[in-house]
This record gives sequence, structure tokens and C-alpha cells, in this order.
Amino acid sequence: MSANFKFQISNPVVVALDVDTAAQALALVEQLRGAVGMFKVGKQLFTAAGPDIVRQITAQGERVFLDLKFHDIPNTVAKAGIEAARLGVSIFNVHAAGGSQMLRTVAHEVAAVSEKDGLVRPQILGVTVLTSMTVEAFAELGINRSLAEQVIHLAQLCDAAGIDGVVASPHEITPIRQAVTNPNFIVLTPGVRPAGAALNDQARVMTPAEAIKAGASYLVIGRPIIAANDPRAAAEKILQEIELADSGNV
Ligand code: C5P
Repeated sequence: MSANFKFQISNPVVVALDVDTAAQALALVEQLRGAVGMFKVGKQLFTAAGPDIVRQITAQGERVFLDLKFHDIPNTVAKAGIEAARLGVSIFNVHAAGGSQMLRTVAHEVAAVSEKDGLVRPQILGVTVLTSMTVEAFAELGINRSLAEQVIHLAQLCDAAGIDGVVASPHEITPIRQAVTNPNFIVLTPGVRPAGAALNDQARVMTPAEAIKAGASYLVIGRPIIAANDPRAAAEKILQEIELADSGNV
């Protein structure tokens, strides 16, 4: 295992439960138990099934990444973050574009309530620039930096505000790690595709092994696992590929 890998959970694969019913999500949890490190509940599943789906997964001893990308005034985001901590999620995320006061407030309030109530403090990640953004969309918003510069700028804002890490493309891991001060800064990366897998709508991909070698802390993988004929076999194959790469054999 690489140094970066050690301080994280032993299995860095976070499977995106991008389905629209609790029944489908729970069936995937059942199939994938022990083969992945965490389950991602995003806007689709959360809106369809509500917070109960998170409780049902954590009640089984499984970890949840709540991917709701909070973005609001500092007080509202902090209150939402506290409820995420009470739900028992291991990770939740916020938009870094909410600004440093929002980032500092959510980090501080969630830590304070977790300490007071004896909760395990969730890790908080900042979303820098959505991968769907283009140079044209940036110009439209009046942002004059390049996409890459803005990613680094927002990662530094998160770092300075006490946010645990960011969500970023695998191609951005190295410059982010060079730009932040926290040696344990988490970089969770989507856009991961096993060699030979369909790209779907992901444009700038890396294989799981490449992303781990590049320093990813967690890999978010959806369709290559959940749409596979045998999701468990697909997850096990990915883990095997990561372990081989991490032991220096590929
Ligand atoms: O199926 P796939 O592996 O592409 O799923 C990736 C997951 O990561 C989806 O839930 C998607 O919403 C999420 N994600 C992403 N790109 C981002 C942020 C999140 O693909 N920049």
C-alpha cells in the first residue's frame, strides 16, 4: 500500500449507487458488501428514497459518502452538514465556490457538534470545478482564470479553511497535492474506468491503478460496477488491479 493509501480505509473504491429506488440500492449493497470500501448516495437516490436509505446502509456497518454538494449561506450549509454527521455518513461534500466563510463555518460546526455528541466526524470534501464546465461556461460566469487554475485556487481555499480534501479529476491530483499544505489532503476522484471498459460520458479518464499511482485517496466508480452483469466480480477485479499496482507489479 502507498503512503497515501495507508491513512485512508483499506479499500479505496467508492461505488456510486446511481439508481432510483431504495430496493435497487440495497440489493447492490448486499452484492458488494466487503468488495468495496464505501457507498455513494447522490442527489438521484437521496431525492427518491430520502435519508432513510443512508440510515439503512450505515445500520449494516457500511460507510456512506453523501454526495449532495451543499452550496448555500454558511449557516444553512453548516446545519445540513451537522445532519449529515448525525446520519452517520463517513464523507459529505460542499461546493468550494460557496466561499471561505462557508467552508470554515461548516468545518468548524461539524467538528464541534461531532465532538459534543460523540459522533464520528465525517470527512468534508470541496467540489472545485464541475467536470462538465467548459471554458465558454467559465467566460459566461465572468471567471477569467483557466479551469486548471480555478481548480488549484479552490483546492487551496478548501485547505486553508480546514476542509479535508476535494473531489477532482484524476488528472488534477498531482498539481493539487503540490499546491496544498495538508499532507493528508484527500483527493477523491471520479472519471475512473478499468482498462477496456466503456467510457460512457466520462471524457478524461484514468484506470483505477493509474489513479491510485497518481495519489488518489478514493476512487468513485459507478457504471463499470453497477451496470456490470456481475457487479461483485467487477468490483473484485478492480480491487485486484489496484492491489497489483500498489505492490509495484504493474
Ligand atoms: O458511472 P460513473 O463511474 O461515471 O459514475 C461516476 C459518479 O461520480 C457519478 O455518480 C457522478 O455523478 C459522479 N461525478 C462525476 N464527475 C464529477 C463529480 C461527480 O462523474 N466531476
